[in-house]
Amino acid sequence: MNRMGSLRIGAVAVVLAAMIAQAALGHGNVTPQVVDTRTLKPLGEEWLKTNPYSGDPEALRVGASGFNQNCARCHGLEAISGGIAPDLRKLDRDCVSLASEEKKQACFLEIDDYFQTTVRHGRTQNGVYKMPPFEGVLSQEAVWAIKTYLESRRVTDE
Ligand code: HEC
Repeated sequence: MNRMGSLRIGAVAVVLAAMIAQAALGHGNVTPQVVDTRTLKPLGEEWLKTNPYSGDPEALRVGASGFNQNCARCHGLEAISGGIAPDLRKLDRDCVSLASEEKKQACFLEIDDYFQTTVRHGRTQNGVYKMPPFEGVLSQEAVWAIKTYLESRRVTDE
């Protein structure tokens, strides 16, 4: 092969590498999707500390779709994590095993509050986002609907 030929191959390789990098970046930057919560009871501006929709089948339906559109690319489809981000089916695993009903409820309340704070503010490490903040992107209704969905996905024994 002459010199021009190998130079050309080199250039193609560079362009290809750039395209692959772009595709990878594009994947990480999927635009968050607005969740349609019109079928749910409106919750107002003030953030609640506990899930007002727990066990509500409509919230579960809305939350399943909200989760798959906004969270699944990191936390896994149907909340089964591939390992990149925590498996959210186990978020309140420690609560579920508590024997005292009173302690269990207190534990769930704490997890609810932890959940909404984490989702609103996201997570950074050394100034870099590991999880984007969803405040202003997802409504309070959408966040609690997603929590309702996750409650239906609980696992305790894995
Ligand atoms: C860009 C990837 C990404 C997206 C999108 C994402 N997360 Fe996360 N999330 C993470 C990572 C990574 C962590 C762990 C952060 C850490 O270790 O500090 C995390 C942590 C969490 C935690 C804390 C878990 C624990 O065990 O402490 C919750 C709750 C959570 N995410 C909920 C959500 C929800 C709900 C959504 C969708 C609305 C979402 N995340 C979208 C990457 C993501």
